[in-house]
Amino acid sequence: MEKHDFVTIADLSKEKILYMIQMAKEFEMHPNREILKGKVVATLFFEPSTRTRLSFETAANRLGAKVIGFSDAKVTSATKGETLKDTILMVSNYADVIVMRHHIEGAAQYASEIAPVPIVNAGDGAHQHPSQCMLDLYSIYKTQGTLENLNIFLVGDLKYGRTVHSLIMAMRHFNPTFHFIAPKELAMPDEYKLYCKQHGIRYVEHTDFNEDIIAEADILYMTRVQKERFSDLMEYERVKNVYILKKDMLCKARQNMKILHPLPRVNEIAYDVDEDPHAYYIQQAQNGLYAREAIISDVLGYSLEDIKNDKTIIG
Ligand code: CP
Repeated sequence: MEKHDFVTIADLSKEKILYMIQMAKEFEMHPNREILKGKVVATLFFEPSTRTRLSFETAANRLGAKVIGFSDAKVTSATKGETLKDTILMVSNYADVIVMRHHIEGAAQYASEIAPVPIVNAGDGAHQHPSQCMLDLYSIYKTQGTLENLNIFLVGDLKYGRTVHSLIMAMRHFNPTFHFIAPKELAMPDEYKLYCKQHGIRYVEHTDFNEDIIAEADILYMTRVQKERFSDLMEYERVKNVYILKKDMLCKARQNMKILHPLPRVNEIAYDVDEDPHAYYIQQAQNGLYAREAIISDVLGYSLEDIKNDKTIIG
């Protein structure tokens, strides 16, 4: 059987995205199963993570697989000079699938080219975060009832934000209108604006962020200004608090509008927004469990039909 990786969301067709959403829905109905009993999932996190690592590990555990891995490369033989290639080849000896986060853009693609087992990209530098994108798509689908014809407002660090880069690519199938709200230092990179033009995706750029702009949104996707991506910390200090979403800014928001955030948040959403019915970022993170159950199952060769016919459901 051909090896099946999950490295970039750009590889997924419209049909495949909708299929993965259906799979996530099945797992949300019955998250606890033993369909992956006997499998080993490795989680290699060369960069810090809370949600992505723990939700992948929870997904594997809830499906009956065993989990190995590390959350800090300092405890591995990388500190002795072992290359990424050798690390991947070693772990491929032990695990059926490797979930990897790495600070180098393209690291997951490279790993997929050398590993005999499937590679799942859990974030590569400022490049892509396709599993986050799947849970974002699932969250948008759940809250809007469709992925088609939506106004999606991306706010904050659009330069380094790999989640917004992945979302643009995935939404190309669904006729979105994007609004990019960022200071000029963190504006959407030209390559993604070019991508929009090449794929006929409408976008508008703003530097203002206020209730009148928010009023047009179906999805308000907030992002953190990522300190770890800045080489000049003075520049980070200048832009870190540039957009803070406050409760009173939601006064003109559409009823269906939901606020998403890949999390972690630092200061960009005031805590009183959490109680507002538009806030959806905590449920969004929970959707990550179901989306990642779908991703692991899919790369290991289980189909939607297999999941629907699965007789190992627990509880
Ligand atoms: N959204 C996300 O990637 O969160 P973590 O960095 O905590 O995994």
